[in-house]
Amino acid sequence: MKYRKATFADIEAIFALVNDYAGDGVMLARSRNTLYETLRDMIVAEDDAGEIVGVGGLHILWDRLAEIRTMAVSPRLTRHGIGGEIVRRLMAEGRTLGVEKFFTLTYKPGFFQTLGFHTVTKDALPQKVWKDCIDCPKFPNCDEIAMVKLDGAAEDTSGQ
Ligand SMILES: CC(C)(COP(=O)(O)OP(=O)(O)OC[C@H]1O[C@@H](n2cnc3c(N)ncnc32)[C@H](O)[C@@H]1OP(=O)(O)O)[C@@H](O)C(=O)NCCC(=O)NCCS
Repeated sequence: MKYRKATFADIEAIFALVNDYAGDGVMLARSRNTLYETLRDMIVAEDDAGEIVGVGGLHILWDRLAEIRTMAVSPRLTRHGIGGEIVRRLMAEGRTLGVEKFFTLTYKPGFFQTLGFHTVTKDALPQKVWKDCIDCPKFPNCDEIAMVKLDGAAEDTSGQ
């Protein structure tokens, strides 16, 4: 498996992967417009045949704060460690920029728990986070779970 930054050539494969899952209601849909605008956020997993089998994004939100989003692994390859590897690489990239707090809004808390994230109440996240929510079909009845991972010096023991 090869992990690398996404390029324009990957957009249609990412669009299909994400929106197939979105059609089943397990993640939020993404428009091509959003994928193009956030192309530099994304890392893809490419199998030996050159097929895109996984994607994930790191989106900078605020001072030292970034969101892990757009996580999707091809259904035939889930539970093979691909999603975990994408998140670890996204966080490594974030750390080089100085990100200290990673968060996610997810329907799969078990997956993020194994990566060191813990659940928080949504109002523990800054208001800036909710900018995109206005456009979400689920707004204002969000049923995603907010999770946070603090890094290094930012780690605290308050459970927040
Ligand atoms: C969620 C998803 C991205 C995880 O990717 P993945 O490659 O399957 O995850 P990994 O194999 O790296 O999983 C690592 C560990 O996380 C945990 N985990 C993974 N998926 C899980 C799930 N659905 N429920 C509970 N724990 C899970 C497991 O402990 C797993 O280790 P194990 O397989 O040895 O038990 C992938 O299953 C997926 O694309 N799901 C459909 C779309 C989706 O739900 N996206 C996320 C929306 S926020």
